[in-house]
Amino acid sequence: MFDIQMETTARALVAGGKGLLAADESTGTIEKRFKSVGAACTEENRRAYRELLFTTAGLDEFISGVILYDETIRQKAADGTPLVEVLHRQGIIPGIKVDKGAKALAGFVSEKITEGLDGLDERLTHYRELGARFTKWRAIITIAANIPTDACLRANAHGLARFAALSQEAGLVPIVEPEVLMDGDHDIARHDEVTQRALRIVFDALAEHRVRLEAMLLKPNMVLSGKECPQQASVAEAAEATLHCMKRTVPAAVPGLVFLSGGQSDVRATEHLNAMHSVRAAPWELSFSFGRALQAPALQAWSGLLANVATAQQKLLHRAKCNSAARFGKYSSAMEGV
Ligand code: 13P
Repeated sequence: MFDIQMETTARALVAGGKGLLAADESTGTIEKRFKSVGAACTEENRRAYRELLFTTAGLDEFISGVILYDETIRQKAADGTPLVEVLHRQGIIPGIKVDKGAKALAGFVSEKITEGLDGLDERLTHYRELGARFTKWRAIITIAANIPTDACLRANAHGLARFAALSQEAGLVPIVEPEVLMDGDHDIARHDEVTQRALRIVFDALAEHRVRLEAMLLKPNMVLSGKECPQQASVAEAAEATLHCMKRTVPAAVPGLVFLSGGQSDVRATEHLNAMHSVRAAPWELSFSFGRALQAPALQAWSGLLANVATAQQKLLHRAKCNSAARFGKYSSAMEGV
């Protein structure tokens, strides 16, 4: 019964010139981010930081949706308005990360499995009541000698497919995120090969579990050289490889791809997105769902101090604007000079 609504939401999330702000860091992850700028990781600071992000004036011009964390979806702005309502008033669609994180995969060395299926149907109903309209689940795939194994890829694809089917049953658009990490010294060809392998297994599982491709979004990694690889592919090469990989594996029925930034610098992530729009037409919308690449300069500027809120908001708006321009292939380094 939610089919039309979900398809409309999925398309709105990837509307032209707009992308997603991933602000769904778990408490452990945001603690690391806060520590890097000397901010204390108190509940009040987490609330204040998310309020800063969501109340940025004009953000709705470039941001269609925000991914929240369980704690955040229940929090209020300083004036008592629920943060979900703050987003609604901005014309931004609230979403929620529903996985419970990646744990060691039993029997395998250095591989992970994302948990969170138990009780998920009840949690989804609750999140919908709280105002969420889409969900996210992240699987983590590591590249090293002899890994990823097929067992790891299949176990994670099963989790993603069950999550996506349950989300759609609850009327929520699932964002399916199988992240092949860029950590390691592998070259771009290896990242391409593993990403293709992972996506094939994921889309097989989605089909098996009867997930409606028209009512979901894929959140893939870009295809890149490993962080420690001595031979770093150029921006143009990475954009070409990413599009090539996606065209070979992602059905055209999926309305959009919202790339994660995965530890690239903010500017480099924007350059890659921009270059993909300069390569050639794709069957899906090509957009962004960046965490670090949207937030890093804002977080740095804020550093936990109320006096820095306005500057931090300017930084966030700037990165959102640059990524919006990249969706039209109209980003250039000149935009950074302001
Ligand atoms: P990054 O863009 O920082 O990789 O975060 C995106 C995200 O939501 C990871 O799950």
